[in-house]
Amino acid sequence: MKADSTGVDHLFASDRRHLWHSLLQHRTLDRKPPLVIREGKGCIVVDEMGKSYIDGMAGLFCVNVGYGRDEIVQAAADQMRRLPFYPLSQSHAPAVRLAETLTSITPPGLERVYFCNSGSEAVETALKLARQYGRQVHRGENRYKVIARYRGYHGFTLGALSATGQISRRKAFEPLVPGFLHVDPPDRYRCLHCQTAPACTLACADEIEAKVQFEGPQTVAAIITEPVIGGGGVIVSPDGYLQRLREVCDRWGILLILDEVITGFGRTGLPFGCQHWDVVPDIMTVAKGITSGYVPLGATITTQEVFNAFLGDVEEGVHFSQVSTFGGHPVACAAASANLEILLRERLWENAATVGDYLTGRLQAIRHPWIGEVRGKGLLIGLELVRDQNKTPVADKEMAALAAAIRDAGVIVGRNVETVPGLCNVMILAPPLILSKDEADRIAEAIETGLTAVAGTA
Ligand SMILES: Cc1ncc(COP(=O)(O)O)c(C=O)c1O
Repeated sequence: MKADSTGVDHLFASDRRHLWHSLLQHRTLDRKPPLVIREGKGCIVVDEMGKSYIDGMAGLFCVNVGYGRDEIVQAAADQMRRLPFYPLSQSHAPAVRLAETLTSITPPGLERVYFCNSGSEAVETALKLARQYGRQVHRGENRYKVIARYRGYHGFTLGALSATGQISRRKAFEPLVPGFLHVDPPDRYRCLHCQTAPACTLACADEIEAKVQFEGPQTVAAIITEPVIGGGGVIVSPDGYLQRLREVCDRWGILLILDEVITGFGRTGLPFGCQHWDVVPDIMTVAKGITSGYVPLGATITTQEVFNAFLGDVEEGVHFSQVSTFGGHPVACAAASANLEILLRERLWENAATVGDYLTGRLQAIRHPWIGEVRGKGLLIGLELVRDQNKTPVADKEMAALAAAIRDAGVIVGRNVETVPGLCNVMILAPPLILSKDEADRIAEAIETGLTAVAGTA
């Protein structure tokens, strides 16, 4: 594909002049302009200069069914013609149909869907529901605290950011919302509790129960976790961990919020991450893969038991008093339904499991001293890169150089940039769930090429 160079030059210059990019220090754009992507098909994206890449990040953990799915485009266009907007303080068929599908594919017990526009909003909603639920169900108590994990990410809005356990993302805005407490993540590779034990002892889950007891259970509204920490460095819950959290929540009357914004819709090899451990949360948050990123949408899905706590006479004021103008936008819901039809028809979580295992194996077979650990589930994979036997993390600058070299070799990879100080050393892969083994080979080869270019072979 040929780029119109006049148009492209203008685009680059105008980008520099007018856009304020997420996360980026704009000074770095003097040396390295952003990737300007023009189009995509399947797992491939093409930039404005005509160079193709395998998108090893599915945009941003989103484009689960791949780029260029006409069914989704058609569903959105049809809906836009029929009814471009109506708020969910009343109702419309696209939202009803999508809620029906969602509650049929999420684990049994999750029955009610509150729609919003993003993962941050889905989490924000979950946190507010949990606080109000605590007040209305545990009368006379003061349940407002939320326990979350270091390294976890839950969004950019002030509540979701307060749950986020990544100081680099938080520090410019602190103090954040009161009542958020953090505990150690279940990071077997660097575990503060049981790294030297032959197997995980789940001591980090016990720490959560101890925290609940020290804080006073009657002050704790919710525990929030990702089934697999995604952007914070791909940290998989050890077996038994989520079950233990479920028990702690049940024992002390606390709500379990599972943030499936990344892990939902097939990414980890099953439709939802929590299904690997047969744990059903009280509240699940989803976004990203719900529409495969074709349009923005998020949702907070709860049990009927949670929903019932908000029923009463109008004068009691126990309903959930939150409105989102665009939440559950009919076009987004129609696009989501078309997206889920593809996901279910093609059973894409199965490909994520098979090709994910294959890609993980290919990466584990790379013999390079920087590869400390390759871990993940399905097509959510992290490579923790270290300089030596002592697990000294590869520095941020080297990680950036590596990602750039891999990109030059034709593959876009992610990394846990701006998470935990000193530990921004996890390269992340989360490609579309339609990835073929051939594409997985090309990803592994590009990573090997990048490692050799930046770190040499020894
Ligand atoms: C686990 C998790 N929760 C919430 C969010 C926030 O989603 P959004 O960026 O759509 O607001 C993200 C974003 O990456 C996420 O990974």
